Amino acid sequence: MEEVAILGSTGSVGTQALDVVRRHPDRFKVVILSAKRASRRLLEQAKAFEPDFVITEEPAPDGFKRELPTKTKHLTGLLGLSLALERTKPKKVLNAVSGIFGIEPSFRTLEHSNALLLLANKETVVAAGELLKPYLERIVPVDSEHNALFQVLRNLKREEVKKLYLTASGGPFRGMGKEELKRVRPEQALKHPRWRMGKKITVDSATLMNKGFEVIEARYLFEVPVERVEVLVHPQSLVHGIVETVDGHHFLVAYPTDMRYPLQHALFYPERVATDLPTLSWTSVGKLEFERPDFDTFECLKLAYEYGRRGFPHTALLVGADEAAVELFLEGKISFTDIPALVKRTVEALAPRFEGPPTVERAVEAAAAAYAAAKGSA
Ligand SMILES: NC(=O)c1ccc[n+]([C@@H]2O[C@H](COP(=O)([O-])OP(=O)(O)OC[C@H]3O[C@@H](n4cnc5c(N)ncnc54)[C@H](OP(=O)(O)O)[C@@H]3O)[C@@H](O)[C@H]2O)c1
Repeated sequence: MEEVAILGSTGSVGTQALDVVRRHPDRFKVVILSAKRASRRLLEQAKAFEPDFVITEEPAPDGFKRELPTKTKHLTGLLGLSLALERTKPKKVLNAVSGIFGIEPSFRTLEHSNALLLLANKETVVAAGELLKPYLERIVPVDSEHNALFQVLRNLKREEVKKLYLTASGGPFRGMGKEELKRVRPEQALKHPRWRMGKKITVDSATLMNKGFEVIEARYLFEVPVERVEVLVHPQSLVHGIVETVDGHHFLVAYPTDMRYPLQHALFYPERVATDLPTLSWTSVGKLEFERPDFDTFECLKLAYEYGRRGFPHTALLVGADEAAVELFLEGKISFTDIPALVKRTVEALAPRFEGPPTVERAVEAAAAAYAAAKGSA
C-alpha cells in the first residue's frame, strides 16, 4: 500500500485521480484530501476514502466536521497542509489545485516531505520554474503533454534530444479570425472539443494560453530553451507529445483523450501496471493531422513564448494577469480578444517592480500583484 495525498481532490483532475485510486484499492491509501471549500463533494470523498486529514482553504462549518469519518481530522490552509504532510509522510502528493493558489502547496510538499510530487498545477512551473531545479528528480508531470514527454525523456540522454513537440487540440475556435473571435461568448469558450476540465484551463485552451504555459513548463521541467519546444495543432488529441532525437527519430506518445492515463502513470510511477481503461485501437483511429498554430490570431501563445524566453518575473506576472483576464472574460467584463492585450499591459507595467532573483514568496507576490492589477483595471 502506498500513501498518497490528493490536493484539489474535488476538481476535474482530482476526481479523475480518485477514480484511478478506486480502481486499485489494494495499492493506494489516501491519507490527505484537500479543496478550497468544505463542500458536499469533499465530504463524500472523505467518507469514501477515510483519509487521516481533510484540508480546506475556507473554514468548515461544524456540520461538515461532525459528518467526517471518526479517524479523519479537519485542518485549514497551508499550515494545515504542512502539518498533515509531516504527520502522514505520503509517498506521493498529487497537486491538482487550480491557479495561483496551487503554487505554495507544491513547495510545501517539496520542502516539508520526501514525497514525489505529481504535478498537475501548471501555475507552479510557469510562475516559479527556476526554483524547481533542485527538485526535478522528485517531480512527475501530470499534464498530459509533459507526462508523455517525461516517459520518453527518462530513457534518453540530454545530448540525444533535439526538439520537443507539444500537441494542442486547437480549442473550440480553431480556424477563426480575429474579427470572429471578438464576438465569442464565455459559454462558447467553455465548450472544449476534446477535454472536460475546470473553467480556467478550458478558457486558456481556447486562447492557446494553456499551450503557451505548457511551452514554459517544458522549458523548466526538461531544461530546454523555449526555441526547442514546438507546438503542433493536432485536432484528434491522441498524440500528446513527441520527442525528436538528434539522429532524426521521432518518439510519439499516444493514448485516448482521458486524463486518467497520465494520472495512472504518475500514481504508479516508476512501475507500469495494467489498466482496465479502454485503450487505443489504431485501426479505428483514422486520420492523424498536425498543423502549425495561428500565432497572429492567438496572441496569447506568442506572448507566452516571449515571456517564457525571459523567465522570472515575466512568467510569474503572466500567471496572475491571465488568471484575472480569464475571470473578467467569464464575468462578461472584457471580450475574448481583450485577454492578450490586458495580460501584456499588466506584465509590462509590473515587470520592473519584481526584477531580481526569484523566491517562492516573490513569485507568489508577483502573480498576486498582476492578478490584482489586471482585475482592478476593468
Ligand atoms: N483538468 C484537466 O484536464 C487538466 C489537465 C492538465 C493540467 N491541469 C491543471 O491542473 C490544475 C487543476 O485543474 P482542474 O481542471 O482540475 O481545476 P478545477 O476543476 O477547477 O479544480 C480545482 C481544484 O482546486 C481546488 N482549489 C481551488 N482554489 C483553491 C484554494 N485556494 N485552496 C485550495 N484548493 C483550491 C478546488 O476546490 P473546490 O472544489 O472547493 O473549489 C478543486 O478541488 C490546474 O492547474 C490545471 O491547469 C488540468
